[in-house]
This record gives sequence, structure tokens and C-alpha cells, in this order.
Amino acid sequence: MRSPIFGALAFANWVVANAIPSPPTLVVKRADTWGGSVSLGPSKSTIVKAVTTIIPGPAPPTQNGVLFLWPGMSNGTGDLIQATLESWPSNSWCGAATGQWCVRASVFGWFGQRDGSASPVSGSDQVRIEYALQSDQNTWLQTVTNAVTGALLSTYSSASGPYMRGYGTGTECNDNCSGTIAAQSYINTVITLASADTTFGGTIAVAGGATYSGLTSSDGGKVWSIASINIPAMSKSSQTTSTTTSRVTTTTTTSRVTTTSTRTTTRASTTSGSGSCSAAQYAQCGGTDFTGCTTCALPYTCKYQNAWYSQCL
Ligand SMILES: *[C@@H]1O[C@H](CO)[C@@H](O)[C@H](O)[C@H]1NC(C)=O
Ligand SMILES: *[C@@H]1O[C@H](CO)[C@@H](O)[C@H](O)[C@H]1NC(C)=O
Repeated sequence: MRSPIFGALAFANWVVANAIPSPPTLVVKRADTWGGSVSLGPSKSTIVKAVTTIIPGPAPPTQNGVLFLWPGMSNGTGDLIQATLESWPSNSWCGAATGQWCVRASVFGWFGQRDGSASPVSGSDQVRIEYALQSDQNTWLQTVTNAVTGALLSTYSSASGPYMRGYGTGTECNDNCSGTIAAQSYINTVITLASADTTFGGTIAVAGGATYSGLTSSDGGKVWSIASINIPAMSKSSQTTSTTTSRVTTTTTTSRVTTTSTRTTTRASTTSGSGSCSAAQYAQCGGTDFTGCTTCALPYTCKYQNAWYSQCL
């Protein structure tokens, strides 16, 4: 048995574990659940480009908590490149109607979550998500388009480095979310490595009832393709639970507007303060409705934990 960083469950659990260090005070156990997943890695080489097309199925007509569908790419310690299809209690913040998702290019890292602008997509839409390492060998450009019409849906660029070794899908259900109601498909997934790695295909891992077909390689093991990946709708048997620890929150009605400002707050906190305030180690420095100091005392940085809570660590 391999125990790769990016084995499907390990991948999901890594994302969670990395995001949630142990806070020191006043905590509750919070159960997040994960749907099926397929993942590859770590590669002996590095990923230079990854393209997939997701057909998400309809978003739930009503939503408890928040649901995210994403193809993710990381190296286990650095940024997680993850264009996300999102279902919130209301998706009107991106102009979506009931049953539609909001999609946006996004990156998750020590700074929290940073996003491009979002667009609505329907369940039968083919949403093409491309991650491409730019010629500076450091910048990743995410480009999200409608695969049929070519319309640009979202884009985001981040200096996430050249050492991406794992790629996988995530169906992530946060804050007691009510789960997916439809299966999702990923088609025409193509991962291009910097150099041949004939062992990459052997690292594929599935979890939660997900299946794949048509795993092939070309160019001596430099280019890896998966014709289709199918993730079942969430059900008791297809979900895994990761119990994470987070602060008590009484905020149950989270409007997208406040969450956006949370993310902005987290982002702002990563710059060195002009001396106006400085939050201590372990202090809260961001989160929905948080209005306190968003700059951490050196050497701590404000780390995103979830939409409701960021902490100086
Ligand atoms: C992951 O990528 C970051 C950014 O390039 C780099 O600093 C870090 O060393 C990498 N980690 C591994 C395990 O490759
Ligand atoms: C989770 O949501 C369900 C309804 O979807 C509700 O019955 C239950 O009380 C919620 N649990 C918590 C801990 O909020």
C-alpha cells in the first residue's frame, strides 16, 4: 500500500488538516463531509499544465452550509490551486438562479482564499478549467471557460511556484452542508508533466464511490489523460467525515457579501500593518462579521480556517 500525500482521501484530509491547526480556546467539533474523489500524485516530476472539463449536474435547490466542487492541484505544503463551483444558501451573489452554481478561479494558501470574479453555470454546462504554469516558472494562470461556447467565466493568476506534484477532485461539504443531489463528471482531463514519469498513473486513487475510465499516457509518460471521472451524488455511503475543530460561531445566515469581505480582510491581513493594530498569536484575525484587527504580530500570519474564522499562527 502506498501512502501518497495525494491518495484521494489523503488529499482531502490533507487539505483539511493543513487548513485547521489546533486552536487553543473555546472550540467545537465541526463535521465536514467529503464526497467521492479521484486523485493522482505525488509525481516524481512536476505538473506544468492541467486541464479538465466538469459537468456539475444541478446545484441543490436549497442549501444548508456550503458545497464546493473543485479540481485541485498542490504539492502538499504550498498553495492549493482550486477553481471552485460553489453552492451557498443563495447563489445570487454571482447572478445564479436556483439550481445553478457559481464558478470562480481560486487559490487557497497560508494567506487564506483568493478568488477571481465568479459566473453562474448550469448543471449541464461543460466548465473547462485550465491551470497553466507561465514562462516565469512561478505563476499559475487559471482560466475557466464554457467548453462549448468558449465564454470566459473566471480567471486568476497566482505566484504558486513550480513544484506542483498532485492533482485531484474534491467534493467538499462544509458546515453541516446538505450535500450534492446530482453526480458530477469530469471529462478530458489532461495533466502535462515537466518530464516523463511513467509511475504517475499508478498513483491514481479513488474514494467514496468515484470511478474513472480511460487512463492513458503519451510522450513517454509526460502527458497523462483520463477520459472520464464520475463522482456520485452524495449519500451516506459515499461520504467521508472529517471532524475538524473550529471556534464556536453563532452566525448562521452568511450572506455572500460578508464572506467576500472576510476574504478581503484575510487578504489585507497578510500585508505588514502600518502600526494601527497587531493581533497576538492565536487571536482571531478574520472571519464573517469579524471587525477586529486583521494584522498579526510578527512573526505570526493570519491563516484562513474557514469562512467564519481566521487565526494568527
Ligand atoms: C511546494 O511549493 C512551494 C512553492 O513553490 C515551495 O516553497 C515548497 O518547498 C514546495 N514543497 C514541496 C514539498 O515541494
Ligand atoms: C444539520 O442540518 C440538518 C438539516 O439539514 C439539521 O437537522 C441538523 O440539526 C443540523 N445539525 C447541526 C449540528 O447544525
